[in-house]
Amino acid sequence: MRWMVVGAKGMLGTDLVSRLVEAGHDVLAMDKDEVDITNEASVDHAIDSADVVVNVAAFTAVDAAEEREADAFLVNAVGPQYLARRCKKIGARLVHISTDYVFNGSSSTPYLENGAVAPAGAYGRTKAAGEWAVQSSTDDYIIVRTAWLYGANGACFPKTMARLSEKMEKLSVVTDEVGQPTWTADLADLILRLVEATVPSGIYHGTSSGRTNWHAFTQAIMTSMGKDPAIVTETTAAAFQRPAPRPSFSVLSHNQLVAAGIEPIGNWLERWNEAAPAILADY
Ligand SMILES: NC(=O)c1ccc[n+]([C@@H]2O[C@H](COP(=O)([O-])OP(=O)(O)OC[C@H]3O[C@@H](n4cnc5c(N)ncnc54)[C@H](OP(=O)(O)O)[C@@H]3O)[C@@H](O)[C@H]2O)c1
Repeated sequence: MRWMVVGAKGMLGTDLVSRLVEAGHDVLAMDKDEVDITNEASVDHAIDSADVVVNVAAFTAVDAAEEREADAFLVNAVGPQYLARRCKKIGARLVHISTDYVFNGSSSTPYLENGAVAPAGAYGRTKAAGEWAVQSSTDDYIIVRTAWLYGANGACFPKTMARLSEKMEKLSVVTDEVGQPTWTADLADLILRLVEATVPSGIYHGTSSGRTNWHAFTQAIMTSMGKDPAIVTETTAAAFQRPAPRPSFSVLSHNQLVAAGIEPIGNWLERWNEAAPAILADY
């Protein structure tokens, strides 16, 4: 099976390419130097023949998107449209990665795959538009929404906390944002399993099982570092203002995975404990 990965040098892209190569697939890894997804001619030129195209390219700077929504829209919505049109033309399946930020976080029960989206900020609006662009441009797609991603090959929350813990005696972390920390290596494996199983076109949620908050996640990170988790103190999101709103509840349902016979990613803490040596090897 011939795969093309677009955004291959990013945090998820790096682990995805490794997983696909390990599984013996023919993979063409592309990033900005090889294809600019905001340029239709570039997309049409670069995406020539493939069975599967995975779009992991994105404008992911959530706060910057508030001031640069047009730039974010180009990468997160227009680019996926060009990719979807091209995939339809060459007969490739498109796997597109989306986010919990398409929801506003006001729910108290896991967000369903086919529930209405209602983003609260610019990044989420552009990612929701990307989902619509894909769905309206091709019939052969898998949209995988993920959240709270961490990986060995990118700036991520555990690395930031590990760094801060070397400089500060206490870490003040929010308790009132709930979600599912997800390892990029696990998500890469899930993408492979979804494609190999030829699941029906639709939206799937690619997050760890269970739920936690940033405070408890930070305590787990400190424990993995051999530090006292009591150095992590509690605060609330209200005391920690940032330009873009964060969803207070980001737990995603895995119903569509189960319906398709795909095992969801395991419990967030078990997966963190497995991932920690690789993530904390370098921060
Ligand atoms: N990180 C998270 O916590 C999180 C949570 C939920 C969902 N997601 C989604 O997961 C996916 C992967 O995220 P990630 O954290 O791996 O992202 P990332 O590390 O920022 O990687 C994105 C890659 O896309 C490239 N790119 C940007 N604009 C491009 C363009 N116009 N054409 C081609 N490539 C371009 C970037 O290159 P440059 O670096 O040179 O710009 C980068 O290599 C994204 O769809 C994101 O929205 C992430």
